Amino acid sequence: MKIYFLLFYFIIFHLKSDDDINYQEKLVIATINKTMKNLKNKLQIALKDGDIVSALKICSVEAQDLTILNSTEKTSIKRISLKYRNPANKPTKQEALILKSFEEKLQSGTEFKDLVFKKTTTNYKEKTYIFIKAIPVKEVCLNCHGSNVSNKVLRQIKINYPDDKAIDFNIGEIRGAFSVRHIFN
Ligand code: HEC
Repeated sequence: MKIYFLLFYFIIFHLKSDDDINYQEKLVIATINKTMKNLKNKLQIALKDGDIVSALKICSVEAQDLTILNSTEKTSIKRISLKYRNPANKPTKQEALILKSFEEKLQSGTEFKDLVFKKTTTNYKEKTYIFIKAIPVKEVCLNCHGSNVSNKVLRQIKINYPDDKAIDFNIGEIRGAFSVRHIFN
């Protein structure tokens, strides 16, 4: 009898956690998609006005919308890149391995939208959910991350980011990724 009860409890508990994860995952994906769309739109508008230097702020400010999700200590969300501009966006060793595996997958024909890594780890007191999703280079990104960035823009970038590595990208390549960690307890 006891065994059945435990089994029952175990199943219910795990179903519930999976629901939590699905809910969290949907929220994360929706926020990421919204952020990317906003970023692209705002950049396009700003660049149409021709003021790239003032548009430089957009790529960091817009990403801060992600802090909606970041408002609890249980969730952290950041952007990472193997070729980062802001050293704060340097990947951890584990994240760097995942970004490299994304590069290999893309080379061997995986569709961009499928460059996603998910993992749940559980220890005695909590469950950690990790979600990493690649960010593609679009045309508008080339203004500041491509191989033909204007001197004026480059000069400005170097003032704020003297060790910038985030240039020479081509359309369709992996610019970086969103890296999300959520703790359930
Ligand atoms: C007007 C210039 C500009 C454009 C256009 C631009 N970015 Fe950025 N990008 C920056 C700057 C400046 C940073 C550093 C932001 C910071 O301090 O966090 C950055 C940082 C990033 C990062 C964080 C990793 C890193 O290198 O520090 C990602 C990812 C990124 N950009 C993706 C994109 C994508 C995708 C596009 C096109 C949709 C784009 N950017 C277009 C200027 C730009």
